[in-house]
Amino acid sequence: MNRIELIRALPKAELHVHIEGTFEPELMFAIAQRNQIEIPYKSVEELKQAYNFHNLQSFLDIYYAGANVLVHEQDFYDLAWAYFEKCAEDKVVHTEIFFDPQTHTDRGIAFETVFNGLKRACTDAQVKLGISAELIMCFLRHLSEEAAFETLAQALPFKDQIIAVGLDSSELGHPPAKFERVFAKAREEGFLVVAHAGEEGPAEYVWEALDLLKVNRVDHGVRSEEDPKLLERLIAEKMPLTVCPLSNLKLCVVDDMAEHNIQRLLQQGVHVTVNSDDPSYFGGYMNDNFIAIAESLDLSNAELKKLAKNSFEASFITDVEKQKWMQQIDALA
Ligand code: HPA
Ligand code: ZN
Repeated sequence: MNRIELIRALPKAELHVHIEGTFEPELMFAIAQRNQIEIPYKSVEELKQAYNFHNLQSFLDIYYAGANVLVHEQDFYDLAWAYFEKCAEDKVVHTEIFFDPQTHTDRGIAFETVFNGLKRACTDAQVKLGISAELIMCFLRHLSEEAAFETLAQALPFKDQIIAVGLDSSELGHPPAKFERVFAKAREEGFLVVAHAGEEGPAEYVWEALDLLKVNRVDHGVRSEEDPKLLERLIAEKMPLTVCPLSNLKLCVVDDMAEHNIQRLLQQGVHVTVNSDDPSYFGGYMNDNFIAIAESLDLSNAELKKLAKNSFEASFITDVEKQKWMQQIDALA
């Protein structure tokens, strides 16, 4: 099998995707129209032209604006369903999806409306596509600790259906330490925990995510490379990093895909995985991310298989399920 065929054939788990970041312009226009909400772009083409980012914040401004057209439970269902269809095309067989309730509750949308729409799509993904899906609720780190506590309280009635809590949005100036107490409470309530750290923020934020938030995975984490002691720790603890190559390129975390550190990290023994982050905005879904790094970094078939295996190992599925996918990957040429 050649490299591209192998990428397409590999079963994969996606561990870092924001459902609001899968919102394709065509669906955004359709939902805006049915909800009679104006968007400040005349056409899909004009909207896509605005997808020209120079850092995380320049992306987030457009990402939050796009989410404003989501109002009804069916809107959240349609959003998630469109993503699951992409998963099916890319052989993503398991996914752990971030959602940002505060982006919606701050506009007067009920938590339940968001949750019920997403959950119903997850159930249908299993039944109709054979894709398993879990939900990870993220706190917006540019908002207050108090607002995060309120969001956690809203999630408690659904805690058996939300596998983990996470932390996203503007990283610089909003270190993990700001959310130490709310993460402690979330862990007490039985949630697993993840956090974005070391995307734009320094290695110090990754230390905080580990020591203060006690995360089960680090989202992005690519700036960990700047601190050899931190790398040693990540390797020793087999701490997964959910790396998002096209995102890093589009947000200028790296200047060129040929300079991306995912292969160096993999070769040093860091538990890296490949993910799409906000695929509608960053130019591609799971397989596009795999192809971009495979070609720019000349990844071997063995490295591609290792990345796919890492995705299941780092996921929150059972050990029995993990073994099943490992065997399927091993069986590929
Ligand atoms: N980083 C932080 N917050 C986000 C991102 C990201 O890449 N995507 C959506 N919210
Ligand atoms: Zn992200």
